[in-house]
Amino acid sequence: MFSFKSLSLFILLTTVFSPVNSHAEDADFISEGGRLYDKWWQEIGLKKPATTHPSYPSAGRQKGANTWRCKECHGWDYLGDKGAYASGSHFTGIRGISDSAGRSIDEVMAILKNKTHRYDEVMLDYGLLRLSAFVSSGQVDIRHYFRPDSNKVIGNILNGKKRYNQSCKECHGSQGLKRNFGSRNKPEYMGTLANKNPWEAMHKLRNGHPDAFVMGDPMPHMLGKINLQQQLDLLAYLQTLPPAK
Ligand code: HEC
Ligand code: HEC
Repeated sequence: MFSFKSLSLFILLTTVFSPVNSHAEDADFISEGGRLYDKWWQEIGLKKPATTHPSYPSAGRQKGANTWRCKECHGWDYLGDKGAYASGSHFTGIRGISDSAGRSIDEVMAILKNKTHRYDEVMLDYGLLRLSAFVSSGQVDIRHYFRPDSNKVIGNILNGKKRYNQSCKECHGSQGLKRNFGSRNKPEYMGTLANKNPWEAMHKLRNGHPDAFVMGDPMPHMLGKINLQQQLDLLAYLQTLPPAK
């Protein structure tokens, strides 16, 4: 019959394999890991690293705190040297983390504490656990949803627009021009980013942005709130927004 052992196995299997959006709490946990994949020191109020990460290759063109962001070595697309960072100023030659999707939290934790990574020297298990949950169950490969030979996402733009007006417009403006992600001389708006780097846009719309508050409200994460197709619809709409004022 129904033993305790099979019940815990059931719970384990449902947490690991069921769609994340049916578990709001898991989504909060995983998306926080997603924000830590970025500027983790901002997300949980830790000291900004003053050195370059010891495993950052000397041939790489970045230095300092940025080299401690997971994305700097593994990419916004999680594909490392096989993805968008296969060349250019973010090239490191380091492989991606996509093979680690589905690995146990313990296995990923061990990687984050190994000699290559040393993240246990800069953060507590609080952060390592969430990062591991993200690596294990927060990744998505949006290349499967691109139109052939382009970075344009296939999605329902009208549905995406509805979602945008509901969840994003207040902070980013009706055309995505309210917040400039770049600089005064080199402005970058929602439409610019979504076309130039759909992986980063998708990562941030799913997981939120580290320490992004407007008038005390954090940028919401969409993981667990809308399903993957709805996230793609939203991204498809972001790609229709104007690149400049
Ligand atoms: C300075 C560069 C660098 C940074 C930053 C970095 N890693 Fe890595 N990572 C590596 C290298 C090097 C490997 C090993 C690749 C190999 O074995 O060839 C690796 C491997 C991994 C793997 C195993 C890859 C696989 O086979 O699936 C995971 C998972 C991983 N890293 C996660 C992370 C996470 C999460 C972060 C941020 C907390 C992070 N890494 C930050 C350099 C980095
Ligand atoms: C409560 C305000 C708020 C809401 C709502 C909000 N955001 Fe944000 N968002 C921010 C802030 C703050 C930043 C940090 C960058 C900045 O300062 O402009 C940001 C950054 C981003 C970035 C990263 C830009 C970059 O280059 O770093 C993306 C992409 C983004 N938001 C998408 C969205 C989407 C899509 C929605 C709706 C699902 C949304 N945001 C809702 C406040 C918000």
